[in-house]
Amino acid sequence: MIANRPTSRWIHKIMTDLKTEIACIQLGNIHVIPITSPEIAREILIKQDSIFASRPANWSSEYVSSGYLSTILVPYGEQWKKMKKVMANELVSPRRLQWLQDKRVEEADNIVSYVYNQCNKNNGGGLVDMRLVARHYSGNIIRRLVFNARHFGKGREDGGPGFEEVEHIDAIFTVLRYLFAFSISDFVPCLRDLDLDGHKKELKKATKLIMKYHDPLIEDRIQQWKNGKRTHQEDLLDVLISLKDTNGSPLLTLDEIKSQIMDMMIATVDNPSNAFEWGLAEMINQPEILQKATEEIDSVVGKERQVQESDISKLNYVKACAKEVFRLHPIDDINATHVAMEDTFIANNTYFIPKGSHMVLRRQGIGKNPRIWEESLKFKPERHIQKDNDGFKNINLNEPSLNLITFSTGRRACPGIMLGSTMTIMLFARMLHGFNWSVPPNKTSIDLSESEGGTIKAKPLVALATPRLPAEVYY
Ligand code: HEM
Repeated sequence: MIANRPTSRWIHKIMTDLKTEIACIQLGNIHVIPITSPEIAREILIKQDSIFASRPANWSSEYVSSGYLSTILVPYGEQWKKMKKVMANELVSPRRLQWLQDKRVEEADNIVSYVYNQCNKNNGGGLVDMRLVARHYSGNIIRRLVFNARHFGKGREDGGPGFEEVEHIDAIFTVLRYLFAFSISDFVPCLRDLDLDGHKKELKKATKLIMKYHDPLIEDRIQQWKNGKRTHQEDLLDVLISLKDTNGSPLLTLDEIKSQIMDMMIATVDNPSNAFEWGLAEMINQPEILQKATEEIDSVVGKERQVQESDISKLNYVKACAKEVFRLHPIDDINATHVAMEDTFIANNTYFIPKGSHMVLRRQGIGKNPRIWEESLKFKPERHIQKDNDGFKNINLNEPSLNLITFSTGRRACPGIMLGSTMTIMLFARMLHGFNWSVPPNKTSIDLSESEGGTIKAKPLVALATPRLPAEVYY
């Protein structure tokens, strides 16, 4: 494992060399079973979902979830059921999202004016770091929904993130990087104290940094509810504190609230921001796609106002672009690992899967599978557009067929489909509608290389923006 970093690339190479869509690699005493076949993925997440609905029990998951208190990283059982229900019914339900709509729109307005300010700084056309824009839009939204605050500190005058927000988002991405990076301590627990790959140290540092920002806000808010200073719910933290069990006592402990908020943060910022950064990069390199998406938005919205969430259902081509990014450029090749809770056979009894095996559905492996997708390496949004008798079929970013993995399916499926889709499409739509985009001067195209360690873009996307709407629309 040490010689073959990053492990996800090594697994990819093994599978490519063996020309296989399923493999079994023993790491420590664990059978890791990577899969790039949508048929086998369906068997795991649909047909035999009840067997494969657990998660690994290891140091990284236990540490980040404060002892398995939340949802994403928690093995199957009563605690996971309790917290998943809270997440799905209380935090990201359609009713709750409706309640929080104004906050999301304010964050979309803020990010548009931030980019607009960058254009004006450089006499009407500015170079903009779109990784920063995308990550901070996502971070601003989730901080706003949870803590009713965009900034932990003072922010910046131009609407950009302050030092505290940059530190917060960087720490979230560090946690995500090491959480699913096949840490040696997770597979060979007796080597845990040695921390041979340094993952443990990095994860601890980043998790503590995130908690440094969250904990005082959470503790102070609980105090406000206790001493009667707060009586009215304004955000998701208030919701979590106010939940009651059947006896009328608080449903969640302080540690459960903290852990569930950590889940919301790590679940929300990565996918929408990564999708947008890659999407814009691909579209700048294929201007006809950029133009088609922009024309669609103009035809639905006009040029006298900003895009609103109510426009999303009509933006089918924009949705196709986003879906195509999730196919080609998921934030990580590795879907959150599923663990077999008993011995079983899969693929018409061809493969025996021992209890405890780690089932690793490879998002990029499935998304680029040439048996399923024609010209599988090409960014081609049209492939997602299907016409029915009444015209275009409405496009949904979710793909329960698992021919590509966006939100996955089954018991461990993502509960944040509506929030995640809305955030992603709004970011695409606001940015494409508000600005013309092109490569920076002295460049002929955007470099689409992936980072060495994973699937994010190797270099942050820096693009040239010019406003395309009347000035008053930006304010
Ligand atoms: C575009 C945005 C998003 C994408 C593409 C996405 C995708 C995913 C995927 C692929 C999984 C793993 C499913 C599996 O294990 O098979 C997942 C899990 C999860 N997601 Fe999301 N997600 C997004 C946004 C969100 C948001 C906004 C939230 C909530 C605030 C959220 C909450 C969760 C939770 C709690 C889980 C774990 C579910 C469980 O283990 O039972 N996600 N997501």
